Parts: sequence; structure tokens; C-alpha cells
Amino acid sequence: MRKKIALIGSGNVGQIVALRLAEMDLADIVLIGGIHMGRTAGRALDLAEAAPLEGYHKRIVGYTGEFAAIRDSDIVVISAGIPRRPGMSRDDLLGMNTSIVRMVSEKVAELAPNAIVIVVTNPLDAMCHVAYEATGFPRHRIIGMAGVLDSARFATFIGMELNVSVENVSACVLGGHGDSMVPLPRYTSVAGIPLTHLLHEEQIEALVRRTRTGGAEIVNLLKTGSAYFAPACAVKEMVEAIIKDKKKILPCSAYLEGEYGIHGVFVGVPVKLGEEGIEEILEIELSADEQGALLDSANSVKTLVDKIRKMAQGKETIVALGRKSKARQVHS
Ligand code: NAI
Ligand code: 2OP
Repeated sequence: MRKKIALIGSGNVGQIVALRLAEMDLADIVLIGGIHMGRTAGRALDLAEAAPLEGYHKRIVGYTGEFAAIRDSDIVVISAGIPRRPGMSRDDLLGMNTSIVRMVSEKVAELAPNAIVIVVTNPLDAMCHVAYEATGFPRHRIIGMAGVLDSARFATFIGMELNVSVENVSACVLGGHGDSMVPLPRYTSVAGIPLTHLLHEEQIEALVRRTRTGGAEIVNLLKTGSAYFAPACAVKEMVEAIIKDKKKILPCSAYLEGEYGIHGVFVGVPVKLGEEGIEEILEIELSADEQGALLDSANSVKTLVDKIRKMAQGKETIVALGRKSKARQVHS
């Protein structure tokens, strides 16, 4: 049976995800844009017209605001929302993006009730929470994209520093997608050699700092938006793991119910991705410092979620994060 992937958000991230997925010929693609009439349809048609050149066969269509087209999608990627500009933090996007993610998540719940949802919109972990509450989906079907990107950045900087192929680098970044993310040098290796055997502490610390500010580094260079090539490739990696049922271990934002001593918060942890979505949350052994950093990061996410709840009390456009009464199936 043909699979269907809906990409809600057809901006920089959405359109590159569409291109990468089309090239892989994995599934039919529906692109949904929010604002400019015609632009999303144009992008999808343009992409469809590349099929004879690139040799892909799946259907690619695009609509503006016509959510009916996402009906029965197997996977939905939400990148609808505002990106940050220089001087802004991801958290500054909270108010506007909460409304957007809430609205599109309700559409997903109505039209694609069995979908696995990958959230991209920032502030990432808080937006996962909005999608989780608005869809009422079980936690294994709401997954945040951040750790794959942050780990790719860490790996890139390590490759540059050591002047080795990035193919040799396996990097690990956990925690929320913000300034308090938690790169883990102890779980990072180069051709199997622990990073800590290859670089001095100060060198590693500099790479960790650059990783934490990796998103801002791109924003400051681009001036008009945020990164999209590497983020789109990170989404592709997650979609591929799910569609091909790879059982691949990737760092993703997941709703924790006691794992790592964290309750009721989305935060980046290693998960096994397969056809069910998050099929397992892996609990790796952390040192006291690493565990402390992960808890701090989870607390930063919780502060944002609390802020959304407070905004909901004062504004009708920002919707409350009240748990739905419908019972959830808890997986893994
Ligand atoms: P963009 O401005 O290029 O595209 C945003 C898209 O959202 C536009 O196409 C717009 O039409 C659409 N949109 C807005 N409201 C909508 C609605 N109600 N329904 C459907 N579509 C709607 O932004 P870009 O660069 O694609 O980034 C999108 C979001 O993803 C931002 O919030 C950004 O911060 C976030 N992001 C997160 C990353 C992560 O690591 N988690 C990485 C890169 C981006
Ligand atoms: C990034 O880290 C925009 O959050 C995104 O580039």
C-alpha cells in the first residue's frame, strides 16, 4: 500500500524536506502552506516536474490551507510557524507558534488520526507538548526533531577540528533544543575512539559551546530566517527510519514519563524509531553532571510549557494545554 506523508509548513524547511523525500521515492507527498495563495501549489508542481529528471514516481501535490488533503497520512511533519531572526531566541516564538501548531494539530487529529507526527516548529520541545495535547495521540506518535540536527552539528564541528571525515564521527546531543541542550562528549566517538581520547577538555568545551549556539550562528549569517538544509536532512533521517521500519536509534524529543527521572515533559533522549514511531526510549547511564544538565534542560522546557498555560488564561488565541479526557495508549 502506498504511504502518504503530509508536510504542514511549506517554507524553507518544508520544501527541502519535500525535495529530499521525493528523491527517495518513499511515499506520496502533500505539502500544505499557510499564507500565500498559490505558492505552495507552485512549489509542489515544480517538484513534481522534476520527477522525469530524477526518476521518482510518487504523487506530489501542494495546497494553501486546504487541510482535507492530509486525510489518512501515515506521517505528518509540522514545520508551520515563524522562524527566528537575529537577536531572537527560539523561545521568543512561543506565542505565535503555539497558536499555529495547536490549530494544525487539531486538523491532524481530525483527518489523520493514525499518523505519526514529527514536530519541527520552535520552540521545539514546547511545540511537541502543544501537538501532544491538541492531537490526544499516544506519546509514541509525537516526536520532536532536534537532537538529530544538534548531533549532526556537533559531528560537523568535530570533523572540522580533527580534519577527519564526518563519516567517522558519531556524536550524541540530548536535552531540549535550546541553549541548555546537552552535548555528551563521553558518548561521542571518532571511528570508535572516544572523543575524550582525541581532544583536550578545553577543545571539547569549545565544540560543545559552538554546538549549543549552532542555530544562532546560522541565524546571524542568514539574517532573514534560520537554518533549513541540515534541519530538513534531519527530518528525512527520521521519516526514513519510520517508513522503512529501521529500528534506528536517534536522539529525538520524546514525552518522558519517569525515564531519566523526568515526568511529563518533552526532552531529547535516545529513542528507537520504527514503523510504530518511538518504539523504545533508551536510558543510558549518565554521570551526576550529565544528569544534572539534562534535568536543567527539562526544567527550561517545563518553564515554557507553564508559560503557555499562563498565556492561555489571558488570551483566547493561545489555547490551553489541558489534557484531553480521552484515554491514551502508552507505548513502550
Ligand atoms: P519559513 O518561514 O520559511 O516557513 C514557515 C512556513 O509555515 C511558511 O510556509 C508558512 O506559510 C507556514 N505556515 C504558517 N502558518 C501556517 C498555518 N497556519 N498552516 C500551514 N502553514 C503555515 O520557516 P522555516 O525556516 O521553514 O522554519 C519553520 C519552523 O521550524 C520555525 O518555527 C523554525 O524555528 C523551526 N525550525 C526548527 C528546527 C529544529 O531543529 N527543530 C530547525 C529549523 C527550523
Ligand atoms: C536551528 O537550530 C532553527 O532551531 C533551528 O537551526
